[in-house]
Amino acid sequence: MIERVILIGFMCSGKSTVGRLLADELGWELIDFDETIEREQKRSIAEIFRSDGEDAFRRLEADLTKRIENRSRVVLAPGGGWMTQPELLEHVAPRSLTVWLRVSPKTVLERHEGQKGTLRPLLAVMDPLEEVGRLLAAREPYYERADVAIDTEGRDAEDIANEIAARMAS
Ligand code: S3P
Repeated sequence: MIERVILIGFMCSGKSTVGRLLADELGWELIDFDETIEREQKRSIAEIFRSDGEDAFRRLEADLTKRIENRSRVVLAPGGGWMTQPELLEHVAPRSLTVWLRVSPKTVLERHEGQKGTLRPLLAVMDPLEEVGRLLAAREPYYERADVAIDTEGRDAEDIANEIAARMAS
């Protein structure tokens, strides 16, 4: 019996949006990691990266994961780098379905440019396309550990949430 869905994937792959729709459809709670960390820290992810650095942010992700590891009937939407600490998945893996939302570098950048409010510190570089390619190549071996991979290109979030709900039922 699946008690948790974990949405993984690169920045701007739609984890939060699909997570919200799926949680509503299932009547489960959504735990959006970035949003939770920002609320608890009372500062933005960009500020955390700027003042404390990426390692400190990764420790906050690890700490949150350990605190929620016994929660059931939850959809988890961690940030795109969460899977680079694969031991975190072990905390929440039992009775979970892990879903990789696949997205192309081009779509990542288009969406990121359209979301002026949510700054991704890792994309604030001279050549973001090259950086997305580099990070994706490094992270794909982690994302490939998911139980299910869904190609999200050209599909709307509702459609993807429905597909995940259908896979849970089957
Ligand atoms: C990150 C992804 C971001 C956020 C932070 C780092 C990453 O979340 O956690 O900027 O390392 O890929 P999203 O995947 O929701 O953009």
